[in-house]
Amino acid sequence: MEGIKGRVALVTGASRGIGEAAARQLARWGATVVLADLREPEGAQVAAQIAGAMFMPLDVGCEQSWTNVVQTVVALHGRIDILVASAGIYQTASLNETSLAFYERIVRVNQVGVFLGMRAVLPAMRERGGSIINLSSTSGLRGNQNSIAYGASKWAVRGMTKVAAMEFGAYGIRVNSVHPGLIDTAMNHEEMGHERIREVGATVPLGRPGEADEVASVICFLASNASSYVTGAEFVVDGGSTAGVLRRAFDARPPGVTQGPIAGQKV
Ligand SMILES: NC(=O)c1ccc[n+]([C@@H]2O[C@H](COP(=O)([O-])OP(=O)(O)OC[C@H]3O[C@@H](n4cnc5c(N)ncnc54)[C@H](O)[C@@H]3O)[C@@H](O)[C@H]2O)c1
Repeated sequence: MEGIKGRVALVTGASRGIGEAAARQLARWGATVVLADLREPEGAQVAAQIAGAMFMPLDVGCEQSWTNVVQTVVALHGRIDILVASAGIYQTASLNETSLAFYERIVRVNQVGVFLGMRAVLPAMRERGGSIINLSSTSGLRGNQNSIAYGASKWAVRGMTKVAAMEFGAYGIRVNSVHPGLIDTAMNHEEMGHERIREVGATVPLGRPGEADEVASVICFLASNASSYVTGAEFVVDGGSTAGVLRRAFDARPPGVTQGPIAGQKV
């Protein structure tokens, strides 16, 4: 893909999952990659396997941490051309059981982390332009049960991406959001287990969960010159899960349950 070779890419959440896959693919297309994450040994190990790459510890929810990373990258490489904001946390809880601390913890990483990241790289990108790719989710496109905090953070990423695209366009900086569906990564292994990933994956039109590499290739498209007129846009990578309503979703109702309460009916 043209336009990645020779560029400097900062990838958050790069110690594993989608961030790791994006870091590896960007490097394959010729970028100098800086991997940043909370998980230090894992990230350093991944960076050691990528030619010319380095790892830096980063807590995306911490302003000072961003200042340190951006200053170091600019001191070493003189520029940042690509930011992939993949760091994120996913935990489910019903709205009723979501404590304020739980809500704020998820928003801090997924939402505030993306805001701080876009703001931090702006000075380093302003002169030459660049591409920012923010990881939202299909949970940022529709409601998902038991995801009040995660959903709020991912809708915010989708919205902030558009605001940044409006404001950064004048500098030649493109900002887009990527919306994965169910991807087979450690994040889901931890939250739902391998078997459940397979079961849920089987219900989407393509009949399987996605791979981190399948999201990374869309990220690379957005980082490259192939997407030079694309900004403020949403890229759904979900095997078709948001394409429409699956028959199977109705078939999955418990036996005997045919409809919800009729309007006005007392429940
Ligand atoms: N896997 C999916 O099915 C899926 C679906 C939709 C959206 N997403 C989004 O894609 C992104 C990547 O997901 P993934 O599946 O690769 O997850 P993952 O858990 O495998 O990787 C996320 C990485 O982010 C890092 N991280 C967490 N908090 C951090 C912080 N405060 N500062 C820096 N790094 C931090 C973790 O250490 C981890 O290495 C996330 O934003 C996630 O919400 C994933």
